[in-house]
Amino acid sequence: MPASNVDAPPEDLPDNPLVKALERLPVHPTTLTIFGAGGDLAKRKLLPALYNLAHEGALPVRFNLVGISRGPLSDEEFRQESAEAIRQFSRREISEDVLTALLSSARYVTGSFDDPATYTTLDEVLRGYDESAPEPLSRVFYLSTAPSFFPVIIEQLGQADLTSCAGGVRCVIEKPFGTSLAEARQLNRDVLAVLSEDQVFRIDHYLGKETVQNLLAFRFANGMFEPLWNRNYIDNVQITASEDLGIGTRAGYYDNAGALRDLVQNHMLQLLCLLCMEPPVSFTADDVRDEKVKVLHAIPAPTPEEVPGMSVRAQYAAGTEAGEEVPGYHDEANVPAGSITETYAALRLEVGNWRWAGVPFYLRTGKRLARKVTEIAITFKPVPHLAFAHEDGSGGVRPNVLVLTMQPNEGVSISLGAKIPGTRMRIRPVKMEFLYGTAFLSQSPEAYERLILDAMRGDATLFTRNDEAEEQWRICDPVVTTWAQTPGPLPTYPAGTQGPEAADAILQDGDAWRAI
Ligand code: BG6
Repeated sequence: MPASNVDAPPEDLPDNPLVKALERLPVHPTTLTIFGAGGDLAKRKLLPALYNLAHEGALPVRFNLVGISRGPLSDEEFRQESAEAIRQFSRREISEDVLTALLSSARYVTGSFDDPATYTTLDEVLRGYDESAPEPLSRVFYLSTAPSFFPVIIEQLGQADLTSCAGGVRCVIEKPFGTSLAEARQLNRDVLAVLSEDQVFRIDHYLGKETVQNLLAFRFANGMFEPLWNRNYIDNVQITASEDLGIGTRAGYYDNAGALRDLVQNHMLQLLCLLCMEPPVSFTADDVRDEKVKVLHAIPAPTPEEVPGMSVRAQYAAGTEAGEEVPGYHDEANVPAGSITETYAALRLEVGNWRWAGVPFYLRTGKRLARKVTEIAITFKPVPHLAFAHEDGSGGVRPNVLVLTMQPNEGVSISLGAKIPGTRMRIRPVKMEFLYGTAFLSQSPEAYERLILDAMRGDATLFTRNDEAEEQWRICDPVVTTWAQTPGPLPTYPAGTQGPEAADAILQDGDAWRAI
């Protein structure tokens, strides 16, 4: 019998199967129109993502780009500005050939989003591309504008008869999807009055992160964790999305949003859903999203009276970040005096179903914390009986903790109790670790690359469905509303630290926040 080689990867395994997968799946010839093409998101993320896809050979052979914004630009100026943004923000070295191939036929439409004339011009540009193509082109409209324009643009697209064509039409909507439950419902009504749900792609860039998708692989490609994945074995779960940066120049947006709307309502609840959902029958869009919605449905929304006991908010004060003194939130440019917008939010949630009843889920996020880390830490129940109780080292026995790290140092680690070498039975936790960077040598695609490609393919698995967006708001709405009605000032935490001491108040007895 040949020696077992279960540890060795098969020789024909590509460096990074997820990158290769991007290349292989066919994408229909497409014209992608970016509304808000001159904006920050387009320049920093969308255009570089398109370039990276072009570099991978992942874009369809026929791919056309249209930019729309109010700023008056010629086609040539748009191409040049896009090329500059790509040079500045792409993760790849720039190949002038790829850049030219991507941008040489790009067109630009100048106009207001509420002006029907803008859509008449857009229609002409889109028809121009169609006429020179041998087969019907798909059309993807990417709404990367201020949220107030989402309903306006969709209504105008409808009125201009741009919501259907032979190759199919899809519409990607950026976050935030409303700022309250009422707004999200209204936006869904506005969108679905013009488009069908299968044409709508509400983006949450966390779902495009490879390490977030790895959570699904971890849970559903490995049988050994499933029997432990429930209230009988899991004591508590902490989901952290901390950032070291402050709000930078985004006060205009951030002061109206705050940490809960900015990250908890969307990204963090998505992580919670992937962690808690039942195994889907298949990885098709509706099977996966049905299971995620069931998780949200099982989370009771707090009453106003419950909010103070399950939530904490705070603002950063001046402090030190990476050795530099940094200002507090109130001293950041354009933050209104007396603002009670939270830059830190923590919640304790419950998932009321048979699998999770009684397990506290702690979610926390904040700007200007000690470092940037996105992780899910699952603490298992302690062993039922300490057989080493008579030994000196019994104090070293700790519950097992499984940590799924999305960034940085992407990977999975499990802490285990191990015997310290020596003549006595002394125990301390050690780590068993899988690191993405060491197991797969190639660079992973960025979230937006994957999501743009999925939208072009019409695969909505990694996008938020209408009911999902509303369920997320159902849970968060009472918290933001109660906070808004409770006068400040808010507790503070010095920049560069672990966050406010007040955050301990929502922990159940015996639980502690992990160090950031
Ligand atoms: C965005 C938020 O959605 O996510 C930002 O608006 C935040 O405030 C960002 O910084 C975090 O994303 P990532 O991918 O850097 O974790």
